[in-house]
Amino acid sequence: MKVTVKSVVLFVLIALCLVSLGSAVGEPISVADALDSARQRLAGTYTLEQLNAMTPETVTAELTDAERVALGTAHIRFIVNVPVRVYVLHDKRFGEPVPSEPFWIQERGFESTGLEVLCDGEPFVAYARDFEAGLVGLGVNSFSGDYLHYFVAVKAAREGEVLEITNLQPACLQTTVFEEGAKPYPLPDWDPLERVPEELAGATLVQVDIAWRRTTRLLDYFTETEYPATAQADNIVLTWSGCPKTTQGIQWRTSVETTKGAVAYLNTADHNTFTPGTPTLVAAESTLVKTPSVVNQPELYTHTATLTDLEPGTTYVYAVGDGTENGWTELAEFTTAPETPEPFSFVYMGDVQLGFPRWESLLERAFRERPDAAFYLLAGDNVNRGNDRNEWDALFHHARDVFDRRVVVPAVGNHEYHGGPPDLYRAMFHLRENGPESVPAKQAYSFEYGNALFVVLDSNLPPETHTEWLDTTLGDSDAVWKFVMMHHPLYSSGPGRDNVWLRDAWLPVFDRHHVDLVLQGHDHAYLRTGPMKADMPVESPAEGTIYVVSVSGTKLYDQSEHSYTAVGFVDTPTYQVLDIQLGGHRLTYRAYDIDGNVKDEFVKEK
Ligand SMILES: [Fe+2]
Repeated sequence: MKVTVKSVVLFVLIALCLVSLGSAVGEPISVADALDSARQRLAGTYTLEQLNAMTPETVTAELTDAERVALGTAHIRFIVNVPVRVYVLHDKRFGEPVPSEPFWIQERGFESTGLEVLCDGEPFVAYARDFEAGLVGLGVNSFSGDYLHYFVAVKAAREGEVLEITNLQPACLQTTVFEEGAKPYPLPDWDPLERVPEELAGATLVQVDIAWRRTTRLLDYFTETEYPATAQADNIVLTWSGCPKTTQGIQWRTSVETTKGAVAYLNTADHNTFTPGTPTLVAAESTLVKTPSVVNQPELYTHTATLTDLEPGTTYVYAVGDGTENGWTELAEFTTAPETPEPFSFVYMGDVQLGFPRWESLLERAFRERPDAAFYLLAGDNVNRGNDRNEWDALFHHARDVFDRRVVVPAVGNHEYHGGPPDLYRAMFHLRENGPESVPAKQAYSFEYGNALFVVLDSNLPPETHTEWLDTTLGDSDAVWKFVMMHHPLYSSGPGRDNVWLRDAWLPVFDRHHVDLVLQGHDHAYLRTGPMKADMPVESPAEGTIYVVSVSGTKLYDQSEHSYTAVGFVDTPTYQVLDIQLGGHRLTYRAYDIDGNVKDEFVKEK
């Protein structure tokens, strides 16, 4: 081939065209990157008041072209082998035939079909368009986080062709047959499809994660923390990430000015002498936590330290700081679990969620009345919007005079999933990671204290993710007392809140290993069952398991009458103290209101 100036210029022009075409049609930026850049730009441009006044239209107009492509095409993607008709089943409450959001349904040529299906009692309307064989990309559910997430039906466009869907992204997407009774959200507590129209019956249903509905918020997203971190350590919390006899987890936070931290600790016996001993120093692991929603402090550091090789049954004094001479907090103390079983007490509380100042009074009452209680169980819904950091700032602020000296043991509630999976819960707590492999770390775990086993479950997840591990953990322990804590109750308090799938999965396991008490929340009232076995009342606690629902915050619900209720009442936040007595063979349980009145009590002996 003859190389001329003309041919070189032509080659260069073609190459430039290909490069620009490549960047135009190539991989969009990810949805996560698009959300990050949009959120940072919005927070840097507007006041909180202006951000909170935005609408789906005004916030969509703020997006760059690249963000618009990502948010309109890359939330859900899959490959089809033949030309298809894709139906997006969208919550009708967004409006119909023109939905208020998301922007891409109209923009990308989806048209209202007039078809409707019921899911979880809500009508969903089908928007449809045709796609060639190849990549199908769909956008985000909404910027408001309102209502339920859309789901998808796919049909081969030409009769007789067999549809195959591959490369589903994210990988957690699943497919099943679109038919009466199929589940768009493959979790037990969401109702299946009803009134499936003929046109959609037999299509392929792409099932989605219900938690995604609030992961793409740009509206009702920005907020301020009432309790910003400073350069000095605060919100100090004791947890266990190892054995309670010989280890102690300590966590705190600082503003970004302080990038490292340390703990200094000393056995109280060496401290309370005329010539105190030298404290041991342990460096903390410091993690930058980014939460762009908190406009007045979008970043802070959490610091966690694990003290190891401690003496069992021993009280230590400690301080945390940045490791400099003057950077230490005031002294606080912790006590390790005893080496051999002996009497001990602990506190259990149901949902905090709302009303932190009043909850602080309840917590302080518990601490004042029972300073001997070794640790505090929190049964989930510890905050209202679990992925909003300002709420954790507030929770720990209101617990600051108790959780820096008594260990907190949390469970995951449904509100920890607000805004998506409970990522911030995991970032906020330094916990044991000995749960089932099929459950994300820290969302389920177990530990022994004295002669008791404590098993903490994540009842938001399909129970089968836990069952085998639960069975093994309960079976392997020779503890005298076995306690389980989880958020959703096996025996509910309120009307229409029966979690039958949890009972089906876990009741036989609790029965098999004779769990003594199951400590729960979620129903915002107080209910204790009598001893239960095989889903029936039994004569004495020695034969059965007792189930408790309680609430510690100010969100309160009604209660309905149930055959299994031994004690039930409403409108009363409580804390419960459980005393393991008499060489560890008697359990005395009492529920107290904020004035210290005993609202319920029972004794179980072994
Ligand atoms: Fe809940």
